[in-house]
Amino acid sequence: MTATKNVVELLTDQHRHIEKLFEEVQSTTDAEARSRAFDELRRMLSVHEAAEEIVTHPNAIRHGDGDVVEARQKEEHDAKRLLASLDGMDTSSAEFEAGLEELRTMVLEHARNEEELEFPILLAEASPGELDKMASAVKAVERIAPTHPHPAAGESATVNAAVGPLAALVDKVRDAARAALR
Ligand SMILES: [Fe+2]
Ligand SMILES: [Fe+2]
Repeated sequence: MTATKNVVELLTDQHRHIEKLFEEVQSTTDAEARSRAFDELRRMLSVHEAAEEIVTHPNAIRHGDGDVVEARQKEEHDAKRLLASLDGMDTSSAEFEAGLEELRTMVLEHARNEEELEFPILLAEASPGELDKMASAVKAVERIAPTHPHPAAGESATVNAAVGPLAALVDKVRDAARAALR
């Protein structure tokens, strides 16, 4: 066993953690505790998907199948939009409850698709050294990625981030990922 996790182990662990956070939000009845649990879920989901967008998706495309990644990006886009609509909503409302259940279904299916269709490409095609470097890059991105969903962030970043304060942030995140991959 190695001391540090490679990128697939790291992201798979995060999927399980995200699953637990959904359960925590849904099973918490105290309003304040529920809001806090949702804040943690929102933060975790935002940084996790940003890291995949910047680190694993481009590498899976480089090593294999663009269609597999494109389908995952579409799922992430839909989930991000839904998460953004829940962000700031009263977490004890029926509307939030329904939206959260829909998001949970989407996110868990997306995670399963990554584990079954995308991660195997990385495991088969990337070297152990590359898989470790990608793990460092994921951690670097997650330290500075936005903790709220930005439906446009990360997707066609050069177009979406060409204007506005997001440009500098996207640059910073990409620089961190590149530095970790060197
Ligand atoms: Fe993802
Ligand atoms: Fe993921």
